[in-house]
Amino acid sequence: MRIGILNSGGDCPGLNAVIHGVVGAAHQLGWEVVGFRDGFEGLLPPGDYMMLNPEKTVGIMKLGGTILGTTNKGHFVAKIGEGDVAEVPVEVVERAKATLRHLEIGALIVVGGDGSLTTGLQLNRMGIPVIGVPKTIDNDLQATAMTFGFDSAVAAVVDALDRLHTTAESHKRVLVLEVMGRHAGWIALWGGMAGGADVILLPEIPFNMENVAKAVKARDARGQHSTLVVVAEGARLESGELVKKEAIGGKGEDRLGGVGEYVAREVEKLTGKDTRACILGHLQRGGAPTALDRILGVRFGTKAVRLIEEGKFGRMVSYQQYHVGDVAIEEAVNHLRLVSPESEVVQAARSVGITFGDEA
Ligand code: F6P
Repeated sequence: MRIGILNSGGDCPGLNAVIHGVVGAAHQLGWEVVGFRDGFEGLLPPGDYMMLNPEKTVGIMKLGGTILGTTNKGHFVAKIGEGDVAEVPVEVVERAKATLRHLEIGALIVVGGDGSLTTGLQLNRMGIPVIGVPKTIDNDLQATAMTFGFDSAVAAVVDALDRLHTTAESHKRVLVLEVMGRHAGWIALWGGMAGGADVILLPEIPFNMENVAKAVKARDARGQHSTLVVVAEGARLESGELVKKEAIGGKGEDRLGGVGEYVAREVEKLTGKDTRACILGHLQRGGAPTALDRILGVRFGTKAVRLIEEGKFGRMVSYQQYHVGDVAIEEAVNHLRLVSPESEVVQAARSVGITFGDEA
């Protein structure tokens, strides 16, 4: 048996741990593993790939990024904009099939987020035996309680906030940290709570600048002269408006970012306090995975091989209640998993005095 693996979409800490898990489990079964480079593009004839074995993958688990490379562009994009699904052209799928046939590959493991798994699902329906592995730092995939990469992104936010605390206190400033997550607020919520933010602004809880300013002033009145604000890149104003620096027209998703600068500017205007914005950006995606992400990655990778062994194609590895199981890929895509404003975690944050900018 020979199986293929590819990563697709944005990179994510823990991808190499998945590869390590796949290669280890496959080797135990006496199977060969072919790693395709640069996402689905590596499937195009003659195939851009490398043979993977335990000697090649030893030590990669602790590395960030992916040894296979990845892309969120190219011939296989099945998601256009925010949620519009396009069909990968039949001719492109036929070319991929030809490569897989030529290399005698019996199954393909697709490690990706919403868009890449949508492509994986289409390939599976068109006759390629696919197993999905969920991947995104945003943690916004349905049907899995967590994806690897999220914990590493949260750790980067916490590290940034620990640093911002000391400079904010020294200067009695407001510091606004803009974090990733697209239209989900998981990174902002978890990172903000763990890093001791005073204000957290999420896409799921529309905010009002007056309320944010009020929280800053109230802290000042209590003698707390510095304030840390964490704002998710997809946070929305009460009007429903998304503050964006750059809108990409036509095909492709809007590039988010810019809300941090906006919030900092408005806070300064409304409170008169010296305010600065900091954009954490790709520091959240780069670098070594945390211990949790390494373990999740290895478990996801080995589970993907078990699913191939059981012939459960069209399924995706899923993490639920401390157990790694599997679900139909359909259950995970096309509908983001968002933070519920009524959830226990949001209530816990409110209980310790964190403001979400929605209070009257
Ligand atoms: O989906 C992961 C993510 O890091 C988002 O949080 C962010 O908006 C986006 O990808 C950035 O994408 P790119 O690396 O293409 O700028």
